[in-house]
Amino acid sequence: MTTRTLALDGPAGSGKSSVSREVAQRLGWVMLDTGAMYRAITWAVLQANIDLDDHLAVAQEAHNTTIEITTDPGNFVITANGEDVTSAIRSPEVSAAVSAVSAVPQVRELLVQLQREAVENSAFGIVIEGRDIGTVVLPDSKLKVFLTATPEARARRRSLEVDPLASIETIAQTQEELHLRDAKDSGREHSPLKPAPDSQILDTSDLSLEQVVEQLVILAHQTYS
Ligand code: DC
Repeated sequence: MTTRTLALDGPAGSGKSSVSREVAQRLGWVMLDTGAMYRAITWAVLQANIDLDDHLAVAQEAHNTTIEITTDPGNFVITANGEDVTSAIRSPEVSAAVSAVSAVPQVRELLVQLQREAVENSAFGIVIEGRDIGTVVLPDSKLKVFLTATPEARARRRSLEVDPLASIETIAQTQEELHLRDAKDSGREHSPLKPAPDSQILDTSDLSLEQVVEQLVILAHQTYS
């Protein structure tokens, strides 16, 4: 693999999405938001009224859903079967169901393959963010970073992204939702959320977006210069 890769993993609210976009823009690389792909499949599963416990039906729906996702960090659009789902995939319903859908092994196999193809098609460099990038999707990536942050910092970030005036109650509720999702993502049998043995851990709790971006850009230059 000749493409330069930054495999960026971490739990919800660790700042991965904003960081990836900014880092990719500064490096002149593309970016892939793999969480958005799991969300798009989840959206399709919910649209089809499929029982989330029926793994066979979930896998079948994933198989029948065509996903197209842009990798331009300045213009993010994702479609499922031709329908623009860029906003719909952030709904509370999708957020509540996505852990169940992403725990189905056939769904993961399908998306990991699409993710590797996106990497192969990116000529210069790609920031690819998710939960299993360093461990499963790109185990040979020369640069792997795992972002962490305290539960409070992550809940605050996620809530303020949705509503800049979010109340303390909303932040507390978000913290509970993130806790539930993390427990499912970390405890699942297939590709659980965990740092690869060779990833660098970066705690972003007390860092600004700019500080995190700067550190990653420096790491990318050091790794690929
Ligand atoms: O990054 P996000 O919150 O949009 O991700 C949504 C869900 O997708 C998350 O709860 C776990 C799952 N996911 C995954 O299992 N593997 C990935 N590489 C990315 C996301």
